[in-house]
Amino acid sequence: MEKTVANHKVTVVDHPLVQHKLTLMRDTETALPEFRRLLREISLLLAYEVTRHLELKTVSVETPVARAELPLLAQQEPCFITILRAGNGLLDGMLDLIPAASVGHVGLYRDPKSLEAVEYYYKVPRDMGERLAIVVDPMLATGHTAVAALEMLKRDSAKDISFVCLVAAPEGIDALHQAHPDVPVFTAAVDDHLNEKGYIVPGLGDAGDRIFGTK
Ligand code: URA
Repeated sequence: MEKTVANHKVTVVDHPLVQHKLTLMRDTETALPEFRRLLREISLLLAYEVTRHLELKTVSVETPVARAELPLLAQQEPCFITILRAGNGLLDGMLDLIPAASVGHVGLYRDPKSLEAVEYYYKVPRDMGERLAIVVDPMLATGHTAVAALEMLKRDSAKDISFVCLVAAPEGIDALHQAHPDVPVFTAAVDDHLNEKGYIVPGLGDAGDRIFGTK
C-alpha cells in the first residue's frame, strides 16, 4: 500500500502476515529465538515486495515435456547493503529468497549525543551501477545513518537504490526523502514519532540488542 507521510510517498507492506509478525516482534515478552525467527520470515516477505518491479527477459527452456519461452530476471541479481550492525538481522531472510545476491556492508553508528552518523566500515560489490541495491536497516529513526549510507553508495555509482526497514518514524522518512528523493522506502510500519533518545515510539526497542541478545 502506498502511503503519504510528511508529504512523501512510502510503500507500507501491509500484508497480514507481515503485520502479524511485526506485532509479535514488538512485544517485549518475545524472546530472542522467536524474535530472530520472526525477523527472518518478515525479511523474506519484505524482499519479495521490494523486488516486485525487477525486469524480466524471455529465454528458451527445454522442459521435460516441451520447449517453451519463459521469463528470467533480465539484470544481475540485486545486492543487499546492510547498515551494520542491525541491518545484518534482515540478511538471512532476504538471502533465503535471493541466494545469489551479493552483500555489501556499511558501518555507521549514531553518535549518542549528536545522533549524527559516523562511518567506520565500507565494503560493497564493485558493480554497484549495474544492479538494484537494496539497503537494509530495521529501524528508520532520525534517518541520519540511512542518508549517509545512500550518499556513500551513490559515490560508488549506485543508481537504482531502494531502502527497506521494518519500522519507520515520520522524521526518518522526511530526512531520507529530503536528501534522496529518488530512493523509494519500503517499510512494514510507520510509527508515531521519535522520543528524546532517538527511539521510535512505539517501535520495538533497540533492534540490534534484540537481534543479537546484547541486552
Ligand atoms: N534504532 C533502534 O534500534 N531502535 C529505535 O527505536 C531507533 C533506532
